[in-house]
Amino acid sequence: MSDLIKVAETDEFLNYDKDSFAPMLYGEKLKLIFLKETDSTNEAAKRYLAQEKIRNALIVAKLQTAGKGRRGRTFYSPADEGIYMSLLFTPKEGLEDIIAVTTAASVIVARAIESVSGQKVSVKWVNDLYAGGRKICGILAEAVLPTDENDETAVILGIGINVGNESFPDELKDIAGSLHAGIQTNLWKKQLIQTITKGLCAFLEDIKNTSYLEEYRQRSMVIGREIICYEGNCTYCATATDIDERGGLVVIDEKGERKVLHSGEITIRLSNL
Ligand code: BTN
Repeated sequence: MSDLIKVAETDEFLNYDKDSFAPMLYGEKLKLIFLKETDSTNEAAKRYLAQEKIRNALIVAKLQTAGKGRRGRTFYSPADEGIYMSLLFTPKEGLEDIIAVTTAASVIVARAIESVSGQKVSVKWVNDLYAGGRKICGILAEAVLPTDENDETAVILGIGINVGNESFPDELKDIAGSLHAGIQTNLWKKQLIQTITKGLCAFLEDIKNTSYLEEYRQRSMVIGREIICYEGNCTYCATATDIDERGGLVVIDEKGERKVLHSGEITIRLSNL
């Protein structure tokens, strides 16, 4: 058996209605794949691309057994409580700057969460979303480079949102939060998946439009804050001053030097919270 389908596909997912949810991407109906369980929807997307040559699809799972976060971390993905979704797409004009995609995705997901739950959402650079001072969503974008069989670059945009969780394992309980949707968990999940997917597809059709950047700046919880930057083996303190036109984080380090971070990790200094 192909290891594609340790993952069982299902049609019955959140009472998904094929007529009311039919997102279009690049002029075609987006393929929707709902899984009862998988290791990681990002990994499942890679398998659909490699084994079934599916180039554009939304993959959603009820449960992930090996949800992945950035920098080799795991993403806690218990059954039914959260949204675990990956948008697989093959940009028409090759690989656009992946940081632009994650920056835009942060704004699209933040807006969707606010409209569905009424909770104010902030962004911690580069793509962690916070509500009520806790991380409620993480985004992991990965590029799949061309191979002998596939000459195009594909992008997988994985989004995890804690929707109904009432508790977290010890190692997460000081950081992670949830929307605490209670009995509305399934309804909110469905609305969020649909709103986010439509928003992402609209953005991908108009990828040169950078109007989301101003909203990203307004939602930023790091601009004006003292932060600690981790770049490779190097750690230093700095003040975050802006988000540049490519979604990079502009900082002034302790020597007064201006730098722009396009990857890496930051934490906000506690004395500054
Ligand atoms: C992070 O917080 O570092 C990013 C977390 C990304 C989690 C999502 S859940 C859906 C998709 N599949 C994964 O394995 N990871 C992403």
